Parts: sequence; structure tokens; C-alpha cells
Amino acid sequence: QLQPVILSGGSGTRLWPLSREQYPKQLLALAGAETMLQATALRLDGLSGECTVAERPMVVCNEDYRFMTAEQLRAIGKASDRIILEPAGRNTAPALTLAALAAIADGEDPLLLVMPADHVIGEREAFQQAVVVGARMAAQGAMVSFGIVPERAETGYGYIRCGADYAEGVRMIAEFVEKPDVSTAERYLASGDYLWNSGIFLVRAGVWLRAMAQLQPEILNACESAMRGCRRDSDFIRVDAQAFAACPSDSIDYAVMEHLPTRADVGIPGVVVPLAAAWSDLGAWDALWQIAEKDGQGNVGQGDVLFEDVHGTLAIATDRMVACVGVRDLVVVETPDAVMVLDKSRTQDVKKIVARLKAEL
Ligand code: GDD
Ligand code: MG
Repeated sequence: QLQPVILSGGSGTRLWPLSREQYPKQLLALAGAETMLQATALRLDGLSGECTVAERPMVVCNEDYRFMTAEQLRAIGKASDRIILEPAGRNTAPALTLAALAAIADGEDPLLLVMPADHVIGEREAFQQAVVVGARMAAQGAMVSFGIVPERAETGYGYIRCGADYAEGVRMIAEFVEKPDVSTAERYLASGDYLWNSGIFLVRAGVWLRAMAQLQPEILNACESAMRGCRRDSDFIRVDAQAFAACPSDSIDYAVMEHLPTRADVGIPGVVVPLAAAWSDLGAWDALWQIAEKDGQGNVGQGDVLFEDVHGTLAIATDRMVACVGVRDLVVVETPDAVMVLDKSRTQDVKKIVARLKAEL
């Protein structure tokens, strides 16, 4: 049994002003008709073959977004009966631990397919084929990651050095390095020996908990008491706020993935399945421009947008008309209460504006 677990905890500050604290990016329709959360929930539809997929996804999200999350899933026929609510985020390792504990508490030990709610995957069928391979590995007790051929020396991702063959088309993880510095990332890219970690994982619930018991007992303990004290009301699982507040914050990558290759004593092989499915982490505005369909001048317009002698520009109008003349490589985002204009090469710096706005509050 394959159980989708959607991690929906991010706030998407680099996609301001569309993405807001009240409206994080995974709840927005940025790259198509569905919101990113909905697209994630639909990603396994039609998967056939040896895998049976649980009908309802599990979701881990902040309690502030519970109604929007539940409603968006219901609207596409993917209502979840296990929406785990965090009073405050503690990053992905605790989030996955809560999901694993909830499944085990329900008397299951499923293969958990961990999917971030803020990715775009252009080729669903290729994704599903990789998932089928990964499920086979996870059923044998491996911790499975999905690797992407890197395109640039991105420092926001994890890098996986592929080791010996583990099974057909599957490699051992020889080394896992989360968010290297620029010069290291450049070296990895040039070597050709590394894949990007997609952030999608597949692991049996019990195997994940065993990894946590050996590598991060403090996180496991805090999550166990947070789940022991949880309240279930209809589809929501509210973890005990006090117990969860005491949980250390850490990501799956740092907490577990980096250690598996060197910690043979843990006895859980870390493996990587290649993923070639037009994957993109929609982290900032340039990524959205990258994947969107462009006109002959490389422009992307969403909403009421006019371009005159414009090149390489992304413009989004939600409320009023946006007209651009004689400019290139800009991002223009219009909303009822904020308009942002920025150079397309500076999209990472949007978070500086958000930080200033927060400081002024
Ligand atoms: N429920 C919950 N709670 N979800 C969370 C939390 C949390 O506290 N923190 C993050 N998430 C969700 C985010 O919403 C996102 O969907 C996913 O988990 C990954 O978190 P990010 O914060 O976006 O991670 P990252 O992009 O820096 O790095 C990860 O993804 C990269 C690829 O996109 C790592 O796995 C990297 O190794 C990987 O390359
Ligand atoms: Mg991310």
C-alpha cells in the first residue's frame, strides 16, 4: 500500500506579493488550473501496475491553513481524512515523523510517498514510473530519494553522489550533501557525478521511525508525545502544541539523508531512483517564468497584460491591467494592495522585501 503524504508547510516568501502569510504558495494556482496542493494530490492518478495507492492522501500542514487545505482537496475529490495540524512548523523531519506515527497508530505500516506541495512535475507518467521503482525498493527496507540531473550550481538543493548499483536503475547514495556552498556546488556540477535531490522520498513508516530512533531520538520522542496528546476532530489530527513546541527543528535531508551513507550501523540503505519528469521546485519567480509557456519574445503574461517591445518578462495582473513597454527581463506582479517590479535575475531578493515588511509590522 502506497500512502501519499503531502508536506504543505512552506510560506513561499519569495513569491510575494501573490504568496502571503494568509495565502501561501501551495494554495495558489501558479502553474495551471489547479493549485499546487491540488496538483500534488492528483499526481498519482492513473498509476497502475503493482502499486495500490491509498485513496486519501495524508497532509501535514500548519493549523492556520486547515480549512483551505481541506476544502481544496475536497474540491478535486481527494478529501483527506488525516490532515495533521502543526501549531508551528518544525521542518520536514518532524512532519514526516508525525505522519509515520499517525499511520502506525491506525494499525498500518504503509510505504509513505513524501511529496512537497510546491513542486511542478510536467510529466506525470514518468513520475509514476519512478514511483513504482521506488516503491519496490522501499518495500525491501530502503530509504528512497529521487534524483534529478542538475542544470546549474544551485545552492538551495541537496546533492547526491551516486554509488554502486543497488538494483536495476537504482544506485546507492554514496554521499548526500544538503545545500552546499557555491564553489562546492560548481564542483559537483562539473564532476557529473551528482544528482539533485528532488525532495520527494519513499520509505516504509516503520523504517523511517527506526532511522529516527537511531539518528534523531530527541525529535522522535517529541513527536511521539505530540501524537500521544493529539486530538482528532473529524479529519483533523491536532498534535499536542506544547510537546511539539519542544521538538527540535530539522529537515529530512540534514536529520537523516546525510547520515545514511556513513552510518552502516543504522542498517537502512539510502538509495536514489533517477527522476526525469520535467521536475521543478517553484521556489521563486524566475522558476515560474522558466516553466511557463512564452510568446515569441520570451514573455509570460497572466491576466490582463499588454506587452509592447518587451523581452524575457513575466507579468501577472490579478486586479488591474498591467502594460509594459520597451523593457526586458523583468518580473511584474500586480495585486490589489501591492505591486512589485523586479529584475528577473534578482528574484531571490524578494524575501528581503518580505523581511522588511515583517519588521515594520
Ligand atoms: N508540514 C510541514 N511542516 N511542511 C514543511 C515544513 C514544516 O515545518 N517545512 C517545510 N515543509 C514543506 C514545504 O512546504 C515544502 O513543500 C517541502 O516541505 C520542502 O521544504 P522546503 O523548505 O521547500 O525545502 P527546500 O526546498 O529548502 O529543500 C528540499 O527540497 C529541495 C528540492 O526542492 C530538500 O529536500 C533539498 O535537498 C531538495 O533539493
Ligand atoms: Mg523547496
